[in-house]
Amino acid sequence: MRNRRAALAVIASAASLALTLSACGQNSEGGSKDEKKSAKGSTVGIAMPTKSSERWIADGANVEKDLKAAGYKTKLVYGEDDPDTQVSQIENMITQGVSALIIAAIDNKSLDNVLQQAADAKIPVISYDRLILGTKNVDYYASFDNEKVGELQATYIVDKLGLKDGSKKGPFNIELFAGSNDDNNTKYFFNGAMKVFKPYLDDKKLVVKSGQSALNQVTTLRWDGGTAQKRMDDLLTSTYSKARVDAVLSPYDGISIGILSALKSDDYGSKSKPLPVVTGQDAEVASVKSIIAGEQTQTVYKDIRKLAEVATNMVDSALNDKKPEINDTKSYDNGDKVVPAYLLQPVSVDKSNYKQELIDSGYLKASDVQ
Ligand code: GAL
Repeated sequence: MRNRRAALAVIASAASLALTLSACGQNSEGGSKDEKKSAKGSTVGIAMPTKSSERWIADGANVEKDLKAAGYKTKLVYGEDDPDTQVSQIENMITQGVSALIIAAIDNKSLDNVLQQAADAKIPVISYDRLILGTKNVDYYASFDNEKVGELQATYIVDKLGLKDGSKKGPFNIELFAGSNDDNNTKYFFNGAMKVFKPYLDDKKLVVKSGQSALNQVTTLRWDGGTAQKRMDDLLTSTYSKARVDAVLSPYDGISIGILSALKSDDYGSKSKPLPVVTGQDAEVASVKSIIAGEQTQTVYKDIRKLAEVATNMVDSALNDKKPEINDTKSYDNGDKVVPAYLLQPVSVDKSNYKQELIDSGYLKASDVQ
């Protein structure tokens, strides 16, 4: 908690500093790197992955708002979850002369060529939430402590099943879901969770009854809820006709909603067959409603308003020859370089603290989730 507060305080002061500097007109035009496009008033390109999830819509809006407040124009595009579309959108923005790029990649390995074009045009690149791999042409990474996200989900399951105290309980059946295999975050979420589960899996207090416990057996292409629903349907048929599933590790709210649909069609949620513990991530409205209704059990809240501030500060710094605030220079090696990062802290949310974390903080309105 103290760390989180300290991190938020740093971000708040970094953001207000950026705003103060821009308000004073310092470092605005004509920094020493003349070959860079002049900063204030220039257009920053923002490439987001998809509008199919409300978080990315909010990300786009937050980043635009913060960049505009810092004196930039913006060009915001969404790639419809199609890697080729995203590549051509970024190419177009480079041709149109954007001064910097903020990119949340769809396929983390598909951007090598287009980012070489950005580098040739001296356009700094911020990797937003998802690390871009296999290129040295990424300047900074703005994200959350992604391993911690998985730790929070798994710890929630362990606590909820009562495995920690006494460890007399169990064995419990669990099934595992992971995110898209082309998203670098996926393995961080999964590995963070598996580290927490390991002693209980080793002791057989937790059992992955389907036997599907390797990352490549449990990924969900493009984080698609329908794909997850189908896999959960298949698991219920193949493995749980007699046994009961007690917990499902879900890495993201859209996937959790799919899993819950499959469970409910199999009569889970009825009096005699309570729903398993189901985790999530992103505090999306549908999932918060589901948590309030006692269906999904938990989600991980990541304050993407802060993420937008961090990314804006990185752009503003890169365009004005300043060093942005960085708090991690070790964790995120993209295969070509360790990308300097600012990582924010995720928070576990369930029915007991959603009001305090999501509503009191202004992240969601009470009326959104009623
Ligand atoms: C990840 C992101 C998660 C979730 C997921 C699906 O990259 O870190 O918070 O949004 O994509 O969109």
